[in-house]
Amino acid sequence: MILVGEPSLGKDEKTALAEVVDANWITMGSRVSGFERAFAESHGVAAAAAVSSCTAGLHLALAALDIGPGDEVLVPSMTFVATANCVLYVGATPVFVDIESLHRPLISIEDAARKCTERTRAVIVMHYAGYLVDRQAWLDFAQSRGLLLIEDAAHAAGAPGAGTIGDVAVFSFYGNKNMTTAEGGMIFAREESVLNRIRQMRALGMSSGTHERLQARAPLYDVTMLGWNYRMDEFRAAVGLVQLRSLRKWNETRRDLVSRYRDVLSEYCPAVSVPFGNAVEPSAYHLLPAILPAGSDRKAIMERMRDTGVQTTFHYPPVHALSFYRSRYPSGPLPETDAFAERELTLPLHPKMTNSDVRRVADALANALCTGRADPEASQ
Ligand SMILES: Cc1ncc(COP(=O)(O)O)c(C=O)c1O
Repeated sequence: MILVGEPSLGKDEKTALAEVVDANWITMGSRVSGFERAFAESHGVAAAAAVSSCTAGLHLALAALDIGPGDEVLVPSMTFVATANCVLYVGATPVFVDIESLHRPLISIEDAARKCTERTRAVIVMHYAGYLVDRQAWLDFAQSRGLLLIEDAAHAAGAPGAGTIGDVAVFSFYGNKNMTTAEGGMIFAREESVLNRIRQMRALGMSSGTHERLQARAPLYDVTMLGWNYRMDEFRAAVGLVQLRSLRKWNETRRDLVSRYRDVLSEYCPAVSVPFGNAVEPSAYHLLPAILPAGSDRKAIMERMRDTGVQTTFHYPPVHALSFYRSRYPSGPLPETDAFAERELTLPLHPKMTNSDVRRVADALANALCTGRADPEASQ
């Protein structure tokens, strides 16, 4: 089976994990701080805070920026549910924004402008499939309206410039991401004071950590703000340090596979299009979203591809249409999001794939599309 995504784990990760066991210090310590430094440096920023997940990091971002009850936060609906959940965690209200188009499924500035009210405090942009939103346009948008800008950079690890657009940015290291720690996340903040607040909030608001207290021989701590236990541990950081060494190479492989997909799909499946065709913004090439012809039976296509050993999925069921959100936070029409959600099919993309795998996927899709075509006579 060619899977949609697969982690690349090997003997270096095993060795790094064994070293943590031997070191006998397993909670947040020198590996976590080393991973923070290395990840920050690899993205050209001064500092970072590692956390237990991107979801936790997004919660901390909003909390540290003092977003709360009475505030509205603009979010894309074409995203993973975590992007909207974090708004609810702080008691604020998510306001769903459409995407630009089928071919650029990134949060739309025009629709965001329409959705602004006097209660809007912030906007969360999400770099769908790893393609960065337009930096200058969003900086201007946020600045001209006095809004905070947060990047959900879950898909964008390693993309040049990722994490440097927003007041706060959060990456994910979940198992299907471009690099993984199984569960985990990383936070950047433009202001050092915000990052320091985030550091304290991830550890229950305590003024110092266990490792720091041991090193400083200062057993006492104070709690000066509300916090949560969103810490990363040494095992995850050790794996993260190893994975980070390959991130650039893996993203280059992903880029080459995407380019191969574009060629092969236009030959085998000309009715299928791949978004971001003329993208100028950098990308981490996290996903390969394909747009099926209008009216396609996606479920049948997925089943047929699965039968020939190709896993597919879709990103995402739009958040505004999920039962929990639909009933509590009804949104106006999001026509581009709805059209994209109906026709998007995510094809396999990960650095273990080869060009011949790409050919096999395209072949499977071409066959599934042919046999999946509605037969007008059959329904009579
Ligand atoms: C766009 C997006 N945001 C947030 C998250 C949440 O990340 P995590 O699983 O690290 O909490 C994900 C993870 O799948 C995601 O894809």
